[in-house]
Amino acid sequence: MNLTDAMQGRRSIRGFQKKAVPKELLEEIIGLANRAPSSMNTQPWHFHVLTGAPLERVREGNSTRMMSGVPPVREIVDHGVYEGPHRDRQVEIAKQLFAAMGIAREDKEMRQDWVMRGFRQFDAPVSVVVTFDKALEGTTIASFDTGAVTYGLVLAAWSKGLGAVINGQGIMQSPVVRQEAGIPDNEVIMTCVALGWPDEEFAANSVVSRRRPVEAVARFVGFDEEDRNAG
Ligand SMILES: Cc1cc2nc3c(=O)[nH]c(=O)nc-3n(C[C@H](O)[C@H](O)[C@H](O)COP(=O)(O)O)c2cc1C
Repeated sequence: MNLTDAMQGRRSIRGFQKKAVPKELLEEIIGLANRAPSSMNTQPWHFHVLTGAPLERVREGNSTRMMSGVPPVREIVDHGVYEGPHRDRQVEIAKQLFAAMGIAREDKEMRQDWVMRGFRQFDAPVSVVVTFDKALEGTTIASFDTGAVTYGLVLAAWSKGLGAVINGQGIMQSPVVRQEAGIPDNEVIMTCVALGWPDEEFAANSVVSRRRPVEAVARFVGFDEEDRNAG
């Protein structure tokens, strides 16, 4: 798959086949993601790749705590409630996903079921917990670098036919993840990525999220001048 096709075609995958992902393939995509740029080549990231019983314990602990009303405990600074255009975009993708899944606005039970799927990391066969070095905690740049490597991971996964969703819900109860995954004390849990072979029948997997056009996200400065110079 060429890069244009991967970048254009990638979308979040939230329904997976019950089929294991070979460890060698996971090593290969992590190797590709690991080529991400980072500030002064500091490479502050780590990947903890979970499957089987430890992953089931993470799902169970995360879901039980969320259901019993334990407030989210994350190791990163929370964004709080989104407002304005950010809220609008959040609502738009939720509507698209619910429409695809046939979940009606007033169907509280099915909406709750969807939220629970998120806490269970969409029952993916693999969860990659992404962390960064605690020594760099509080620096914006380490978050930037960790985000870059995580996009690399989902893109590399897509290019190999795997599906993934970056899944903040999966680390809402970070103490559970820390304990069950054995995360070292000198690392901070940033997020997790639910990963596996896409279930082609799962309706939400075909949802294509919208983007603003290039002219709405980019400004070009000095180009007219260049045109004049070129002329
Ligand atoms: C930091 C981060 C956290 C996310 N957490 C979740 C999540 O908890 N649950 C979920 O369904 N999607 C989650 N997503 C996926 C976004 O909803 C998705 O990337 C966005 O709607 C754009 O859709 P696309 O990835 O299909 O292009 C997360 C994405 C990012 C970058």
